[in-house]
Amino acid sequence: MHTLIEQLVQAVGGAFAACGYEAKYGVVQESDRADLSPFQCNGAFAAAKQYHKAPAAIAGEVATALAGSPVFSKAEPAGPGFLNLTPREEWLAAYAAEVAQDPCMGIPQFGQGETILIDYGGPNVAKPLHIGHLRSAIIGEALKRIARACGYRVIGDIHLGDWGLQIGLVIAELADRHPEWRCFAPDFDPEREPAPPIDPDMLSEVYPFASARSKEEPAFRERARQATVSLQEGHAGYRALWQELMRASVADLKQNYEKLGVSFDLWYGESDSDPYIPELMRILEKKHLLRLSDGALVVDVAQEGDKAPVPPVIIKKSDHSNIYATTDLATLLQRQRDFAPDGIWYVVDNRQSLHFTQVFRCAKKAGIIPQDTQLQFLGFGTMNGPDGKPYKTRDGGVMRLEDLIHTVVAAARDKMEPSSFSSEAEREECARKIGVAAIKFGDLINHRTKDYVFDLEKFLSFEGKTGTYLLYTITRICSVLKKAGAVPAPVPMHFYSDTERMLVTQLLLSGDVFRRAMSERAPNEICEHAYQIASLFSRFYHDSHVLSEPDLQKRGDWLSLMVLTRRVLELHLKVLGIEPVDHM
Ligand code: ARG
Repeated sequence: MHTLIEQLVQAVGGAFAACGYEAKYGVVQESDRADLSPFQCNGAFAAAKQYHKAPAAIAGEVATALAGSPVFSKAEPAGPGFLNLTPREEWLAAYAAEVAQDPCMGIPQFGQGETILIDYGGPNVAKPLHIGHLRSAIIGEALKRIARACGYRVIGDIHLGDWGLQIGLVIAELADRHPEWRCFAPDFDPEREPAPPIDPDMLSEVYPFASARSKEEPAFRERARQATVSLQEGHAGYRALWQELMRASVADLKQNYEKLGVSFDLWYGESDSDPYIPELMRILEKKHLLRLSDGALVVDVAQEGDKAPVPPVIIKKSDHSNIYATTDLATLLQRQRDFAPDGIWYVVDNRQSLHFTQVFRCAKKAGIIPQDTQLQFLGFGTMNGPDGKPYKTRDGGVMRLEDLIHTVVAAARDKMEPSSFSSEAEREECARKIGVAAIKFGDLINHRTKDYVFDLEKFLSFEGKTGTYLLYTITRICSVLKKAGAVPAPVPMHFYSDTERMLVTQLLLSGDVFRRAMSERAPNEICEHAYQIASLFSRFYHDSHVLSEPDLQKRGDWLSLMVLTRRVLELHLKVLGIEPVDHM
């Protein structure tokens, strides 16, 4: 299905062509002066250059050609060459009916036939999930859903950090605490002996302890480093311990992500790339890309025109161990072989930008990834506290994600009237949805590359650009529709005020907004649009006494407009990963 703007462009482009100009000048956009007309075309200015004519003359001719058009009720030249455009109400109503019937609700399916893999979440096993991982989960989940809504096949991969020094630290610490564990004995036999006893609650204590210890005790740090290498080389007891750590950690991660409404298709980790490392080395060798530098093997990835220096990417350290770039390159081999995606997007903290520049260049240089496959780093900024510094707990520690969710949900619960719920469990579930909506919308309303301040009061406010306000808007619609009984039609036939015309126009612009959000990888476009719809709806709701309206035609049209508004808002919320509530 074509979007609203695409249809308007077709009509205006046709008029340009009918006047003897190229149709490409019929570009239509939302008007800067919504008080004059909802849309405008500025194409006469560009056409004027090609045809050596005054823009106003061209705008005038095109306006005349559009007189009597089935699409526009008004097409008026204005100023030095603008064209102000107002679609016909009947045309809008007919388009609305088409959208309402479309299984994709008018969202253009331009992604069909293409596969995108999104690497997001990226938590580290054996470390507690902290708020540093919040943004990747929220933004990645939204991008996945937006891309799916546009027809792409999307694979979400969590890419666990399950292979690095943090595991070695935990192993070394546990070896000191529990020397009696059989997995540390040289004759340990994983086939016959039980797995090491890992208690999930212990995980969150051991890692921070071991990490602090390694900073004070170089000998311990060295043991941890060796444990990492032994694990990667296949030490049977460490592997058994690692598997148990993974099991406990992943169970805990799944629970946390579930609370946030975030899910992954693949639960692969850095360790899954291990079998691809020999092949990676063969490819790099065969292409003569490897170079020895201070004992390490590196690949040069600097390019002419680099504004800042891009250092060589290290593939093997001088002690032969693999590092972050090695696993990321091996993972690319795996992804190419398993899915041959058209694009791979990485939703990772801005601070890792250089790492990905190096990895992407190396992957293309080595031909691991075809030249036309899009490797994209989608960096994000930091969630800050009120002091403008990265968000911390009161005592200055790193906040656990679980605690943050708990705090917000508890605050949401306090705001809700207990009498509105038939049970405590129902209230709790509603509080969870509102809390998660507050966190997600508070994050996604900002462009992903920007930092923002976490402000609980603001995020939970019933006014302004908040998830709470959007959910509240939906509950208002639900409440009227429940009282109204049957709704005559899925879309209105007539509009009775400018607010209604503006509202329906915004509802119908959703396809264009989704297209833009997708092409700019910008969920904040969806947030802004949802907010605009909700505020127009509030104005309409304030002005129109729907339930007591005696004119049945009007009452029916209004109810239909409310039904359509709810559907469109819910679609926006769905791609943001926010679940609606029907009362609060
Ligand atoms: N685990 C990493 C971290 O916590 C993020 C992983 C991002 N994805 C990747 N393919 N490197 O920083």
